[in-house]
Amino acid sequence: MPGMTSYEALVRGEAPLLDAYLRTLDADDAPFTIPGHKRDAVFGRVVAGDVPLHGGLDSISLTGGVLVEAECRAALLWGADLARFSVGGSTHGNQALALAVGRPGDRVVVPRTLHRSLLLGLVLAGLEPVWLPTRVDPATGLPQGVRSADVAGCLRAHPDVVAVFVGDPTYVGSVGELSQIADLVHAAGLPLLVDAAWGAHFGFHPALPAHALRAGADALVTSAHKMLPAYSQAALVLARTERLDPARLQSAFEATHTTSPAGAVLASLDAARALLQLDGEAQLDGPVRLVAAARTRLAEAGLTVLDDVEATKLVVGLAGVGADGVAVGRELRQAGVEVELADRDWLVPVVTLADTEQTVGRLVTALVAAVQRHPGPPRQTVVAASWSVEPEIVLPPRDAFFAPAVTLGVQDAIGRVCVELVAPYPPGVPVLAPGERVTAEAVASLLAAQAAGTRIAYAADPTMQTLRVVA
Ligand SMILES: Cc1ncc(COP(=O)(O)O)c(C=O)c1O
Repeated sequence: MPGMTSYEALVRGEAPLLDAYLRTLDADDAPFTIPGHKRDAVFGRVVAGDVPLHGGLDSISLTGGVLVEAECRAALLWGADLARFSVGGSTHGNQALALAVGRPGDRVVVPRTLHRSLLLGLVLAGLEPVWLPTRVDPATGLPQGVRSADVAGCLRAHPDVVAVFVGDPTYVGSVGELSQIADLVHAAGLPLLVDAAWGAHFGFHPALPAHALRAGADALVTSAHKMLPAYSQAALVLARTERLDPARLQSAFEATHTTSPAGAVLASLDAARALLQLDGEAQLDGPVRLVAAARTRLAEAGLTVLDDVEATKLVVGLAGVGADGVAVGRELRQAGVEVELADRDWLVPVVTLADTEQTVGRLVTALVAAVQRHPGPPRQTVVAASWSVEPEIVLPPRDAFFAPAVTLGVQDAIGRVCVELVAPYPPGVPVLAPGERVTAEAVASLLAAQAAGTRIAYAADPTMQTLRVVA
């Protein structure tokens, strides 16, 4: 294959969608199908690689079966009965899982630190949450993995629930007791569904935890675009079908997926799967080693670095050196090394198998220099709004979402029932959710996060001067 390294050719040989994508790009075609840009027209480079699945990687009626073949290969690799490739991120995957269990009015166990996509999945499906308590590490104020004792407590107190959802790993890379949780959820005859958005690499390196299906879960959703080298929006839904109806899961997946998936997203997902299969451990050695070295250098510079999180996660604390993380994050962006999360106390740069000593070296040097430009007295870390929500549920999320609403000044909204979902982003954990009482604490923590420079997402009024509440 001219122009390809032998390694690229090897991956291509194992990845049917990648191969179909590259063949389509190289073909001398004059397509009379969507997308309307026909790969050049007006916008040049922006659309040059945009080939559809239907009528591009495969025929319009998918007679070649390349997507199914690629999904079967993924199912085999993860030990699933069913695998689906999504171009809608873990957002779509979580909503598909919510639509795949129970009926409107049924209750499910869910962590309150859930991503907003799962909460809106509950709205779509009409499911009602039984919240798992959030365990926060007292030393750091950051969320810990889900404990089996907490799940057991929820199941004892709410024997009517129809499924258990957990997030693993958490946003900061802490991991929970998944295999014990799977055992007790199964003993109750229920399915365990895992939002593993940040864990696409789990199970492919000895330094990393087993992936959720291996740990016993019935389904997992993961963003291949987060920890694997796949295109933005690429995500996987993987399931075992002993406790989940495969036909229902397929309909749930299709209900909320586009009918025009982008070939590049699917091809990159297939390529990422082939890479893990051919060479996962060697590829993941890179971030495991780079993160270990970065943790050492950052700790030597006086920064707090978490070491009880998964091996490729870099979580850097600034409270001990007094620097303001939002200002440091802004400087890092100016230096060309933007990080995923920068709030007052913590920075979370994402390191993946695409990084090198040079890129991580640049990050560490820029980070240490930016911190030194913002000295301050050491302070206590504050538990962020996202990890300290203790909701009072007044209405099911779906009822509140569709309830007649009024817009009130934010202080006047205290005590009323929220209609909207409001989340500092990242991490995208709702601090206010439909159906929950608006508390003075939640409003104060959102306003404090906003004043510190964090984006407050999804509120109808992004300035947070007003809130929509049940009329
Ligand atoms: C825990 C969690 N779940 C789901 C999502 C949604 O993922 P995506 O951006 O792929 O839709 C995110 C995004 O950050 C997340 O952190």
